[in-house]
Amino acid sequence: MMNAQQIVLANRPEGMPTKENFRAESITLPPLNQEEVLIKGLYFSVDPYMRGRMKDVESYAPPFPVNEPVYGNVVGEIIDSKSASFKEGDLVRGILPWATEAVAKAQSVVKIDASIADPSYFLGILGMPGLTAFFGLLYIGKPTPGETVVVSGAAGAVGIIAGQIAKLKDCRVVAIAGSDEKIEMLKEKFHFDEAINYKTIPDLNKAIKDACPKKVDIYFDNVGGKISDAVIVNINTHARIVLCGQISLYNATETPVGPRLEPLLVTKSALMQGFLVGDFKNKFSEGIQQLSQWIKAGALKYHETIIDGFDKLPEAFAGLFSGKNIGKMIVKA
Ligand SMILES: NC(=O)c1ccc[n+]([C@@H]2O[C@H](COP(=O)([O-])OP(=O)(O)OC[C@H]3O[C@@H](n4cnc5c(N)ncnc54)[C@H](OP(=O)(O)O)[C@@H]3O)[C@@H](O)[C@H]2O)c1
Repeated sequence: MMNAQQIVLANRPEGMPTKENFRAESITLPPLNQEEVLIKGLYFSVDPYMRGRMKDVESYAPPFPVNEPVYGNVVGEIIDSKSASFKEGDLVRGILPWATEAVAKAQSVVKIDASIADPSYFLGILGMPGLTAFFGLLYIGKPTPGETVVVSGAAGAVGIIAGQIAKLKDCRVVAIAGSDEKIEMLKEKFHFDEAINYKTIPDLNKAIKDACPKKVDIYFDNVGGKISDAVIVNINTHARIVLCGQISLYNATETPVGPRLEPLLVTKSALMQGFLVGDFKNKFSEGIQQLSQWIKAGALKYHETIIDGFDKLPEAFAGLFSGKNIGKMIVKA
């Protein structure tokens, strides 16, 4: 019998999530059954979509029950195994509880190969965010050389990869993010052509117009709301608007309203398409292979914000909604 710490959803957030929405608990883990493994959590991913699972509404993933542990992507080490597929010391990734140690079905986790990249990368560039950027940009955005691509949430886990893939496809990339530190990094380290701080620019619509003299061919949208309104009025004919996420609306307490964009989509013969990364699950191995190759060749760079301490999970999660992260937000146990 082993004791562990877990973090449960104590109550459903109203508006911005806070530490008070979560509670830490001590638990005793049950003994392992056949085809089960005991996993020590090493790196925990906090992701914006988890906010949706904290609401009691029907969606593509069921709500987290109150007083039950929060689940998310975790990279961990096998510390005991009753499965022939895993041995002690193996590194694995899976959707696991926010717990220092957890018992899981062997079939619910996959081994990761730490010789390809740091284990935490399997939660970011070689995990769900990397695949989201890859399939959203290439399969819906369909970039061609010389096109102008605008990425919002550009310094986040997905945006930083989407913008770089657009550069690899010889596009002009204009990034939108929320601090001068992020703007400088997007230009200096990631070589995006232009970067706009939406929090300090007096007229975002004009800033986008100036940064995109040939108009916007692809808009990779991570944030929605007023930022998207300002980008979309600047689209080109045959523009593709890739709806990846709408983080600016996830904490809204009333139904958000905005301008009517349909007439513009008609006159610009534009495409606006939402997607879930899971739509591409049959192609995940293609995405991982290409992303790994780009990393090995030095063509894709990455950035992580790693917060130390399992107990910091609620704070790290809440920090996503005030822009505390540059690149992927990870908690290291
Ligand atoms: N469709 C899919 O399958 C899929 C998969 C993964 C992620 N997503 C979505 O993609 C988006 C990006 O995910 P991610 O993992 O890259 O996020 P992330 O790394 O957690 O980055 C989130 C960033 O969003 C920005 N942000 C937060 N609140 C904002 C607001 N009110 N207005 C504007 N920007 C705001 C912040 O940066 P600033 O400092 O720039 O404000 C923050 O750092 C999210 O909307 C997420 O839900 C979709």
